[in-house]
Amino acid sequence: MRIGILNSGGDCPGLNAVIHGVVGAAHTLGWEVVGFRDGFEGLLPPGDYMMLDPSRTVGIMKLGGTILGTTNKGHFVAKVGEGNVSEVPKEIVDKAKTTLKHLEIGALIVVGGDGSLTTGLQLYRQGVPVIGVPKTIDNDIQATAMSFGFDSAVATVVDALDRLHTTAESHKRVIVLEVMGRHAGWIALYGGIAGGADVILLPEIPFNMEHVASAIRQRDARGMHSTLVVVAEGARMETGELLTKEKMAGKGEDRLGGIGEYVAKKIEILTDKETRSCTLGHLQRGGSPTALDRILGVRFGAMAVSLIEQGKFGRMVSYQQYQVGDVSIEEAVNQLRLVQTGSEIVNAGRRIGICFGDTPAIQ
Ligand code: F6P
Repeated sequence: MRIGILNSGGDCPGLNAVIHGVVGAAHTLGWEVVGFRDGFEGLLPPGDYMMLDPSRTVGIMKLGGTILGTTNKGHFVAKVGEGNVSEVPKEIVDKAKTTLKHLEIGALIVVGGDGSLTTGLQLYRQGVPVIGVPKTIDNDIQATAMSFGFDSAVATVVDALDRLHTTAESHKRVIVLEVMGRHAGWIALYGGIAGGADVILLPEIPFNMEHVASAIRQRDARGMHSTLVVVAEGARMETGELLTKEKMAGKGEDRLGGIGEYVAKKIEILTDKETRSCTLGHLQRGGSPTALDRILGVRFGAMAVSLIEQGKFGRMVSYQQYQVGDVSIEEAVNQLRLVQTGSEIVNAGRRIGICFGDTPAIQ
């Protein structure tokens, strides 16, 4: 048996742990593993790949990024603009199938987020035996309670907030930190709570700048002269638009960003307090994965091989109630996992005094 694996979409801490898990589990079964380079692009004839065996994957788990390379552009893009589905052209799918046939690949493991799994689903529907592995720092795939990469991204946000805290306090300033997450607020919510943010603005809770400003004024009146604001890149005001850095004109999903700077300017105008903004950007995707992300990655990789062994194609590895299992890819790509406004974690934040920008500060 020979199986293929590729990583697609943005890179993410823990991808190498998945490769380590897949190669280890396949080797135990006496299978060969072909790693395709640069996502689905590696499937284009004649195929761009490397043979992976345990001697090749020694020590990779601690590395960020992916030894295979990845891309969220190219011939196989299946999500464009604000998350709209587009069909990968049939001739491109046929080319991928030719490579897989030529290399005698019996199954293909696709490690990717919502967009890449949508491509994986399209290949599966056209006869490729695909297994999906969810990958996203955004933690926004509904069918898995957690995906690797998220914990590492949150750890980076917390580290940034710890540092911003001391400078904000010394200067009695407001500091706004813009974090990633696309249309889901998980990174902002977890990172913000763990990093002691005073205001957290999420895509799921449209905010009002006057409420944010009143929370800052109230903190000042109570002797707390610095304020940390975490804003998710996909957050928007009640009346506002989603801010984008770059429209991808059908070549991929739009690049979000700019809301941090916008919020900082508004705060300065409304509160008259010196305010700075900082965009964390790709620091959240880089570096070594946390122990939790390594463990999740390895378990996901081992489960992907087990699903191939069972012939459960068209399925995606999923983490639910502390167990790794599987769901259909179709089910997985249909819905984003978003923060629920009235959820326990949001309510916990409100109870400890965090402002989410949707209600006036309590006097
Ligand atoms: O989906 C992961 C993610 O990091 C998002 O949080 C972010 O909006 C996007 O990718 C950035 O993509 P790129 O690396 O193409 O700028």
